[in-house]
Amino acid sequence: MSDELQVRCPGSDEEWRQYYHLRWTILRAPWGEPEGSERDERDSDTEHCAVIAGDRVIGVGRLQMNSLAEAQIRYMAVAADFHGRGIGRKIVEYLEEKARELGADRVILDARQNAVGFYLVLGYNVIADSYLLFGKIQHYLMQKDLY
Ligand SMILES: CC(C)(COP(=O)(O)OP(=O)(O)OC[C@H]1O[C@@H](n2cnc3c(N)ncnc32)[C@H](O)[C@@H]1OP(=O)(O)O)[C@@H](O)C(=O)NCCC(=O)NCCS
Repeated sequence: MSDELQVRCPGSDEEWRQYYHLRWTILRAPWGEPEGSERDERDSDTEHCAVIAGDRVIGVGRLQMNSLAEAQIRYMAVAADFHGRGIGRKIVEYLEEKARELGADRVILDARQNAVGFYLVLGYNVIADSYLLFGKIQHYLMQKDLY
């Protein structure tokens, strides 16, 4: 399967549609949030990663710079039928490479409780409790030094 995967920024209008739709489907729809709620004002000046199998976007993630040295990964989502097959790892590795290219020396993120184990495997450490999304999803601030 992995031979057919592309890991890159979305290109066509259809890829962008699927990119945001997957973000919404995995990260917002389960909590009753409307389509559109998955976007924010930083989408226009950030690095986007999509994993594409054939003509289907099966994984997404975004990297933003918070300062000259600090990058942040947000909006990680892998299609449910592709969990546990290395797709999330590919996205994080792609975004970390972008972070290095942009001059960052560390990457931070707010991990949902269910995803903390995933980021631990990828070398991130829990720094602190973070915020409570929708009043119920505890997040943890995690960090990885790039050098
Ligand atoms: C969290 C998520 C992005 C992980 O993506 P994925 O493609 O399923 O993960 P991968 O298959 O690339 O896993 C990479 C490694 O992390 C491990 N891992 C994955 N999820 C894990 C978890 N929840 N707990 C512990 N380890 C986990 C895998 O076993 C694998 O380890 P290995 O390389 O040693 O075999 C994905 O499950 C997802 O979209 N979840 C729902 C949305 C979400 O929670 N997003 C994150 C918001 S912060």
